[in-house]
Parts: sequence; C-alpha cells; structure tokens
Amino acid sequence: MKTRLTELLGIDHPIIQAPMAGVSTPALAAAVSNAGGLGSVGFGAYDGRQAREMMRDIKARTNRPYHVNFFAHRAPTQSEAVDKAWLDELSPFFEELGVEPPASLDAGPPSFLDDPDQIDAVLEMKPPVVSFHFGLPHKEQIVRLRESGAKLLASATSVDEAIACERAGMDAVIAQGVEAGGHRGVHDGETDRMIGTIALTPQVVDAVSIPVIAAGGIGDGRGVAAALALGADGAQMGTAFIACPETSAGERHRKILGGPAARETVLTRGVSGRAARGLRSRILDAVTTKQAAAPAYPIAYAATRALSRAALNAGREGFEVMWAGQAGALARNLPAVEVLAAIVKEAEARLRSLNAIAIS
Ligand SMILES: Cc1cc2nc3c(=O)[nH]c(=O)nc-3n(C[C@H](O)[C@H](O)[C@H](O)COP(=O)(O)O)c2cc1C
Repeated sequence: MKTRLTELLGIDHPIIQAPMAGVSTPALAAAVSNAGGLGSVGFGAYDGRQAREMMRDIKARTNRPYHVNFFAHRAPTQSEAVDKAWLDELSPFFEELGVEPPASLDAGPPSFLDDPDQIDAVLEMKPPVVSFHFGLPHKEQIVRLRESGAKLLASATSVDEAIACERAGMDAVIAQGVEAGGHRGVHDGETDRMIGTIALTPQVVDAVSIPVIAAGGIGDGRGVAAALALGADGAQMGTAFIACPETSAGERHRKILGGPAARETVLTRGVSGRAARGLRSRILDAVTTKQAAAPAYPIAYAATRALSRAALNAGREGFEVMWAGQAGALARNLPAVEVLAAIVKEAEARLRSLNAIAIS
C-alpha cells in the first residue's frame, strides 16, 4: 500500500494513529511509528513545556517519523453570567456527588494561535510532522513551521475547509467525517455540515491536489481499503487504538471498546463547548439535553472535568467522558504493533479480493 502519503511522510503503511489529547502517549506513538505507521501525540491539553518533554520521550523511543498535534481554535469570550448559568444547570449532579460546584470556570489551555511557547517547542524539537485541529495556524506561524522542515497537516470537516487547508500551504489534509471519535475539527466551531466520511472523502479528493487522509469510523483494515477506494492516500484512525495498553485511557473506556456497548455514541457540544463524539453515558446524555447553553470551548470542559473528578473520588460510574467514534465495537485490546499489523493485513486482503472481483 504505497501512496503519495507514504512517500510524503516517509512511512511504510498509509495509516496514521490519530493524535488523541489525553489518550495518546509517547509509548503509543513510538510503537506505531516503529511498526511502519505514523504514530502521533495530541498536545491540545498541554503547554509548551509538557509538549517538549513528550517529544523528547518519543525521540528516545523511535528514529522513525512521528506526528504531533495542536489545537488552533479562536480564544473564547468568557462570560461570568453564561458560566454561572451553566454551573446552575449542572448543580443537581454536583449535589448528587456531594461536592460544591467550582466557584468559576477556568478558560483552559491557550490555543496554538495565542501561545508563542507552543510554536517555540516545535521549532526547538523539530518533529517531522505537525498537524492542527479546529483551524489553521497564522500565516507567519506557517512560514516558520515550514522553515523547520516539518510536514504540515490539518483537519477539515467540509470541502471548503479542505480547500482552505491547501491554500494555506498544508502538505496534506485530514478529511474528518461525522463518524469520528473526539472533537469535530470544524474551523470556526459553528458551521458544521455533519458530512460522513464516505461522502466527504471523494469530494475533498476532487477539490484539492494535496494528499487526502480519510478519518472517522475507520475501525479496521476494511475501512482503510474503503478510504483508498474513495481516492484517499491514507487513513487516520483514533478509536481503533484507544484500547491498546500503551494509551492513557481509563479502565472503563478500554473495557467498553470492542464490545456491543460501544455501538452507542453521542455527538455533543455540552462536554467542552465544541461538538465531540463519545461513548454514551449518563453525563453525555445530561449535558446534551442542555448543550445550547454550554459556555464556549474550552470553558465548558472545566465543569465536566470537575464532575468527572468528583465521581472518580466517590467511586461512581457514568460521569466519565470517553471519546470514541462510531466503529468503537471493532476496536481491539491488543498492543499497538499488533493492532497496526492486523489493520495492514486486513486492508491488503480486502484490496486483493476487490481486485479479484474487478477482474472476473
Ligand atoms: C479519544 C480521542 C481523542 C482525540 N483527540 C484529538 C486531538 O487531540 N487532536 C486531533 O486532531 N484529533 C483528535 N481526535 C480525532 C482524531 O484525530 C480522528 O479524527 C478520529 O479519531 C477519527 O475517527 P475514529 O476515532 O472513528 O477513528 C480524537 C479522537 C479520539 C477518539
């Protein structure tokens, strides 16, 4: 499976293990990269110092290309009144868990757009591949990143966003369908066209000339073969790797994935202020019914985190946030190297059998 993507990134297989803030680890990224895929870590929840430490850790574990990811969202406008109303909405849950709601909501980690230390960390550590979620970096940031030699990727959830990625100078674009686990990469956070991977991928392929990476609901090698059939040059898979022992996912998260309970996911703005897909749980259902009132991303996250922490301390289930895509029941609880090898084998077998159908 040699494609423009394997050539661009210097990898053996056209498969990117998705960066997953809070779940992907240097150990996971290095295992996938050493096995010939592109291993990734998401820095959306970290500052420049933590990003440097994690890149050092990956570099100590692999000589192969690896990928780091940042959030390029516009900083939210915080409103005390909105935050207070949201905490009031959630107060019955805090009461049930026997804790006081936080007095105020933290504005969360800064965006790559506003934090000079994040780009300094990249320029210092020189990761081979850098990607962006929730939008594109500033023009001058792109110039500096390109000078560092990094290959640049960005997520797009629509054809228009994909064209914007190409125009801004990205080397490849990740076409993220609505099936995807975790946050939707919608650039302005508002104009969400909710397109599925099978509809989005070929339209993006037609609209841009850079390589396209399909993402969202690709759960095994059959999905990778489908992505290639749609004209993509590769696939980015997140949920398929969450249950690997190398991730920092919680016990319950990895236990549900791979089984029938993972068939139920919810897409909601209520957890963080931006649309994201996760395994159905009491907290996701609760915030979804009130999501219109949630503070802007990432402010709402502070309230959900406070609830999750309180529930953990109280030994109560149902309040953890477990991001996952629609193919979570296909996930495997195996070491990352085995997951990647299985995906490659399945994709190759599928492509061979399709070839046989085409010939006969
Ligand atoms: C747990 C989890 C965390 C994620 N975190 C990030 C992130 O930090 N940055 C990012 O660009 N994408 C993130 N994503 C989205 C992935 O890049 C990708 O679009 C998605 O995993 C593809 O869908 P799938 O999960 O069905 O494979 C995350 C996905 C999951 C499941």
